[in-house]
Amino acid sequence: MMTENLQTLFDQAQHITFMTGAGVSTASGIPDYRSKSGLYSAKFKGLPPEYLLSHDCFVQQPEMFYDFVKENLYFPDAKPNVIHEKIAALCQSGRASLITQNIDNLDRTAGNDQVVEFHGNLYRCYCSKDGEQVDWHDYMKSMYHDTDHGIIRPDIVLYGESISESALQRSMAAIEAADLLVIVGTSFKVYPFAGLINYRQPNAKLVVVNNEPIPAGSVTAQYSGDAETFFAGLKG
Ligand code: APR
Repeated sequence: MMTENLQTLFDQAQHITFMTGAGVSTASGIPDYRSKSGLYSAKFKGLPPEYLLSHDCFVQQPEMFYDFVKENLYFPDAKPNVIHEKIAALCQSGRASLITQNIDNLDRTAGNDQVVEFHGNLYRCYCSKDGEQVDWHDYMKSMYHDTDHGIIRPDIVLYGESISESALQRSMAAIEAADLLVIVGTSFKVYPFAGLINYRQPNAKLVVVNNEPIPAGSVTAQYSGDAETFFAGLKG
């Protein structure tokens, strides 16, 4: 249930910046990474997912990378839930910004064309040889580009790769513009995403919505529970 003071914080905010992770998409049927039932709780052909999602794996074992990504990361039938929808509505009205770690495209599907996709987007693919954009449906059929036989990859940030300059710049601007930061559905363990809050205004308020404690330092308010329930109760 939405507590009064949380609703008041949202109502009084001039500009809200949301920082989200996989916990906002679990209600849409996409597993997160580090929960008990998360992607990282199992090995794939004896290998840890953190390796399988690395630049090294993509270069050294491209077939293994392709099989893992295709079988475990793509949920094309997943639909946005109330979290994506309410955040999208606030962003499209100009009252909010969104920086997401998620690569599932659900924020865009919810109509949010302002979203900063800090770790990229699975449904944007390209050939690693000639750089040409490739439709993700074609990527699901083959890892090889039909024109030059180059290896196709999704436009996501793999372990060992850096965040795009554009995503970093847009994220810092969104953090600096906010008088209310709302961290939702993330274990907040991955950098540089987690380090973004160090760029907030000194008097910016910080709210965490997560079903387990996270290392965000001192917060203004915390909702320890299901993020979908929280957003279903959020007015305006
Ligand atoms: N409501 C509230 N919290 C939830 C819900 C829910 N319905 N479902 C999951 N959570 C919480 C989990 O308890 C966990 O704290 O969301 C958090 C998800 O954390 P992770 O699985 O670590 O996902 P995330 O923080 O997004 O991972 C960050 O790690 O591997 C990289 O690139 C990958 O973007 C990913 C990054």
